[in-house]
Amino acid sequence: MSPWLVAVVVAVIVVATMVTAVAQTRPTPQAPPRRTAPQPRPASPPKRGAPEPAETKAPPAPAPSPAQAKAATDATPSDAGATLYKKNGCYECHVNDAQGGPQGPRLGPNPIPFPRFVAYVRNPAGDMPPFTAKVISDDDLSKIYTFLQSRPTPPPVKDIPLLAP
Ligand code: HEC
Repeated sequence: MSPWLVAVVVAVIVVATMVTAVAQTRPTPQAPPRRTAPQPRPASPPKRGAPEPAETKAPPAPAPSPAQAKAATDATPSDAGATLYKKNGCYECHVNDAQGGPQGPRLGPNPIPFPRFVAYVRNPAGDMPPFTAKVISDDDLSKIYTFLQSRPTPPPVKDIPLLAP
């Protein structure tokens, strides 16, 4: 067998191997089946869209159960007040725990007497915007008031190392 013949045979084998390799790599574009797979996902949204049957959704709704627990705790005036305090934006100036900040003074845990509290919110004297009864009812203000009263009492300055004399 001449070296040329050997070379030709080797070349043919190499080409055949490459063609086979290409043919094997082409199957990868068979990804279209993956495209068909995502299509079933649209089916999941309908499940989310049907929150009405709460009992049937019990398995996927482990999160809803904690939410319901929170709703139950919202029954207390203080928690309802906390929600109203956030919802009406009081926190934006008086800060999350009503401890006060650059935009507004501390409101808890010892707010001014309730009648004055209501009067001030309705008709503030300074930089605070007014909240009419249409925006916050007296009843809602009383809940906010309860929330303010339930705020933790800050420790005395002497107990805070950074502030101690
Ligand atoms: C835009 C900022 C801002 C918002 C929002 C805000 N306040 Fe104020 N609030 C102030 C400022 C500033 C004062 C200090 C007095 C002033 O300038 O009116 C104040 C004072 C008060 C006072 C009088 C405190 C005192 O000891 O005399 C009360 C009560 C009060 N705010 C309640 C509320 C409640 C309740 C809400 C939410 C419904 C609220 N504020 C929302 C800025 C704000």
